[in-house]
Formats: sequence, C-alpha cells, structure tokens
Amino acid sequence: MLVSAKEMLTKAKAGHYAVGQFNINNLEWTKSILLTAQELNSPVILGVSEGAGKYMTGFKTVAAMVDAMVDSLGITVPVALHLDHGSYEGAKACIEAGFSSIMFDGSHYPIDENIAKTKELVAICNEKGLSLEAEVGSIGGEEDGVVGAGECADPDECKAVADLGVTMLAAGIGNIHGKYPENWAGLSFETLDAIQAKTGDMPLVLHGGTGIPEDMIKKAISLGVAKINVNTECQLAFADATRKYIEAGKDLEGKGFDPRKLLAPGAEAIKATVKEKMELFGSVGKA
Ligand code: 13P
Repeated sequence: MLVSAKEMLTKAKAGHYAVGQFNINNLEWTKSILLTAQELNSPVILGVSEGAGKYMTGFKTVAAMVDAMVDSLGITVPVALHLDHGSYEGAKACIEAGFSSIMFDGSHYPIDENIAKTKELVAICNEKGLSLEAEVGSIGGEEDGVVGAGECADPDECKAVADLGVTMLAAGIGNIHGKYPENWAGLSFETLDAIQAKTGDMPLVLHGGTGIPEDMIKKAISLGVAKINVNTECQLAFADATRKYIEAGKDLEGKGFDPRKLLAPGAEAIKATVKEKMELFGSVGKA
C-alpha cells in the first residue's frame, strides 16, 4: 500500500536524517528502487515528473504499476508515490489517479498566486490524506523542459507558504537540477538557516541532489532538510552501465540481446546509486 510522505518526513526531521526521493521512468527503475529500499529497510519516495508520467502513458498507469509492484515484491517499508514539480492540473490528475503525495510547483507564479493555488490544494490533499509539497524560489537548471533560473527563496515567503499547512517545503538555496557547473557557488546555508528559523518543524526539501558534495548534504540535513531529490545521478549510472555492456559486445554474445539481459547492468547500477544515497542521507534502518 502506498502511504503519504507525512509520517516518514516528520520522523526524518525529528531524527536528523533525510528520506530520498528517486525519480522513476519505467518498470526497471521502479523495481530497482523498491528492492533497494526494502533491502536497506528505508522509507522511500518515488518521484514522477509530468514528462515521465506522460512517457509511461499517464499517471493512472504509473499508480497501477507501482501499487501492484509494491504488493508483488512484498515491499513492507513505507513507499510514497509523489508527483514531482506538478502543475495545478497535473496535481489534480495525480490525486485522481491514486498518487499518495503531490508536489505543486507554483514557484514561477507571483507569490500571491502561488499561495492561492497551494491553499486550494492543501484543502484537497488534507481531505484525502495525501501529503503536499510546495515550492518557493525556483530551483535552477532544466528538468523535463521546465527551466528555472535558480534563486534563493525569501524566508518570509517560505513562512507564508508553510503556514498554509503544506506537508513539506522546497526552497531554492542555490541548488539546481542536473550536473552542477564548475563555477557553482554551492548551497546557501545562510538562506537555509533563515528559512528553518521561520518554518520550525516543517520538513524542508532539497532538489537537485545529483552532484552535491557529501559535506554539503550533511550540513543541509543538520539545518532541517528532511527530503532530498535525486534523478540525474540514477540516469547517468544507468547509461554508463548500459554503454559498457554494449561496448563490451555482450549483446552479441548468446542471448545477450534479450532486453531482460540488456537492461540488467543498468538496473543494478541504479540499485548501487540508491544504496549510496540512502546511506549518505541516513535513512537506512528507519522504515
Ligand atoms: P537531479 O536530477 O539534479 O538529481 O534533481 C532531481 C530533482 O530535484 C527532482 O525534482
């Protein structure tokens, strides 16, 4: 059964660790992440962007697949199925499709409009027992065609959105999606500290988990980050392992062209990446 992310994140914030959100693209991704979470006895959040949802033929397909897979694999750790960077319409579609957690990203709207739309979704999610993530201050970089300039959120705006009753809050602190450029200035801990001071117990979300140095991840967790999103790193690991398999000519040996064999190294590589992140975030054994 899929669960809301509320309980796992409240525990994470209180226990000074973070739960990973790993984005899924297909069956292999989902299976690798679920099996790793179970093996490490860690709670987990499966993220689905609107683009990935479309790729998998729609949010209903995704919800049905994940729900059935949790059951068939005998997964007992808490699993939340979460819309990543949802539009207002996307959020409603995922609520309808059976997702257990929603992110409404209204960061590109003027703050009053972000607040008005977030407020409406808080009421719907509360009624249905779903968790809701809101965003203040856009995350830089590009993700599924959504480009953010990357800015530091205003702590007062964060407080205004946190006070609406959202479950968790994503705030821009200089983080970006995808690989970090050579001249990246690093995370703004000053901003994070100020946001936590205003928002108290609210679990904070760090997007763009790929490529953030370990010491910065640990410091962010110590300053109230309780959910960390990772996407690109699993994609890179999958692509790298698949390329090696093909370059070694393995697809030409015996039945090496069988998709179940061809995709196996990539699936194993995702497991290793997820394991590494869960260990770093401190969520191992916290299910
Ligand atoms: P990365 O792709 O940089 O890991 O970011 C993932 C993310 O923040 C998803 O919302």
